[in-house]
Amino acid sequence: MKKDILTLAIETSCDETSCAVIRNGREVLSNIISSQIEIHKKFGGVVPEVASRKHIENMNVIIQQALDDGGISFNDIDLIGVTQGPGLVGALLVGISSAKAIAYALNKPLVGVNHIEGHICANYIDHKDLEPPFTCLIVSGGHTYLVQTEGYTQYELIGRTRDDAAGEAFDKVARALGLSYPGGPLIDKLSKEGNPNAIDFPRVYLEPNSYDFSFSGLKTAVLNYLNQTKQKGEEIVVKDVAASFQQAVIEVLVEKTIKLAKERKSRKIVMAGGVAANEGLRNLMEKRGREEKIDIYYPSRILCTDNAAMVGSAAYFNYIEGQVSDLYLNVEPNLELKG
Ligand code: KG4
Ligand code: ZN
Repeated sequence: MKKDILTLAIETSCDETSCAVIRNGREVLSNIISSQIEIHKKFGGVVPEVASRKHIENMNVIIQQALDDGGISFNDIDLIGVTQGPGLVGALLVGISSAKAIAYALNKPLVGVNHIEGHICANYIDHKDLEPPFTCLIVSGGHTYLVQTEGYTQYELIGRTRDDAAGEAFDKVARALGLSYPGGPLIDKLSKEGNPNAIDFPRVYLEPNSYDFSFSGLKTAVLNYLNQTKQKGEEIVVKDVAASFQQAVIEVLVEKTIKLAKERKSRKIVMAGGVAANEGLRNLMEKRGREEKIDIYYPSRILCTDNAAMVGSAAYFNYIEGQVSDLYLNVEPNLELKG
């Protein structure tokens, strides 16, 4: 019988220190996530230097907790996976240094993981039967990609944002509305009470055949609306602005994804990244999926945002395809999704 592969995974690309133990790329034995959000909140966003220092303070404790929760010890580990990039250089360095030390001490293989690929792989954990190929929309705080996923580690990059990432747009608009960081979940919540048709914000589709995205114009439109309404002395109904902004973002995300899936005759659409936690986006994608007879997948909320379990899944699939790193592995803050 084939032996199980236990992966210890580490994620420190931004403001979550996370460590997980994963069996065979799909089963979570533990997934410890220590968020620094409360610390960064007072600055209105992530402070890179502070994030690095907090990762250093937390790292060993979180690793031990992941082993304990998973009911295993260091000697049971077969593979070490770690986020190589993209992300904050200092933050990534903490994770990579820890992963290398463990790999060296245990003499076990090490796999450097692309954080974006990790987000996609979160879906393999929650949907045990999901296999490529599929059309994939990745929407996080730092990235917005439309991808045709051909294999577990093969991707065709079709579209990307030309300016702000989807999550970044949520966070910036939330800030303008006086909401705290990160604003995405708050806009999501307010949108449920607001009227999505109250304000006609632009839907930016770019050139007719483009699969790229642009959100900075929409952000400016919201800022202009807020300024003009204030100048006129009229009331700003925050929930209506939130709902109308969210509707403008999700319509474009959904329509471009559906168009690509139809063009590629793909029967499966997979969503990934922090913004895939958005209820409006999930509902609209599912509605359009039913109309077009396309199955829609997304991870549970906890696996949408940054976590090490998704990194462990990606490390496993790279490992079984023979893509192993060595101890010269270095951080790549601007790592792209490889084709
Ligand atoms: O994937 P993620 O945890 O980190 C990156 O890799 O960037 O994504 C974080 C982003 C933030 O911009 C946050 O506001 C957004 O995801 N986000 C949401 C929701 N939950 C998190 N945006 C909209 N609706 C949500 N429910
Ligand atoms: Zn992420």
